[in-house]
Amino acid sequence: MHRVLPIILSICSAIAAAEPATGNLEQEARELAAQFISELKPRLKLAMQEGGPTRAIEVCASAAPKIADSLSADSGWQVKRVSLKSRNASRAIPDGWEREVLEDFDRRQAAGEAAADLHFGEVSGSRYRYMQAQGAAGLCLTCHGENLAQPVRDTLDKYYPDDQATGYQLGQVRGAISLSRQL
Ligand code: HEC
Repeated sequence: MHRVLPIILSICSAIAAAEPATGNLEQEARELAAQFISELKPRLKLAMQEGGPTRAIEVCASAAPKIADSLSADSGWQVKRVSLKSRNASRAIPDGWEREVLEDFDRRQAAGEAAADLHFGEVSGSRYRYMQAQGAAGLCLTCHGENLAQPVRDTLDKYYPDDQATGYQLGQVRGAISLSRQL
């Protein structure tokens, strides 16, 4: 028994050493998620003020994918946004891992946690993955809420014929920024 214990201990510490430290990765992912929002939100707000929601949809349709792509190219992370009810059908449909996390976010939000506080990160296969939820605030409901103005509906139909991202209520999880990088 005494001979076996050191072997077991050394195997355990080898496993512990192989497990990558994820603290820095989580920090990087958080910063990138914050950067995504701080680049998109002012443009959305400005477009709303200057040209109303239909103009803001046009701005968002071109700006949001560009921001995600340039953050990805600059950082070495893959940055995107996903939702259980996606608007951009070519980018925002979640994979299996993202779907589970989004479903968990919905459960936690329904149980009383604030959407903005919901985030989750872990090593999955050969990647570190992280998601930060985005809650539906008042402004968001103009384009993601229950009773959309007709011009908003028409503009959305033009850009997103497969849009599912409406019918949200204040505070619900609209979607999440999803980040991953190879370890
Ligand atoms: C002026 C209309 C408008 C407003 C206001 C708006 N959005 Fe969106 N939202 C869009 C459009 C258009 C897209 C699709 C962008 C794209 O093609 O990537 C989108 C996409 C998204 C996505 C990506 C997932 C998907 O379904 O494609 C999330 C998450 C999201 N919006 C959250 C929010 C949140 C949170 C707010 C409030 C802070 C908000 N939106 C306000 C129009 C809007």
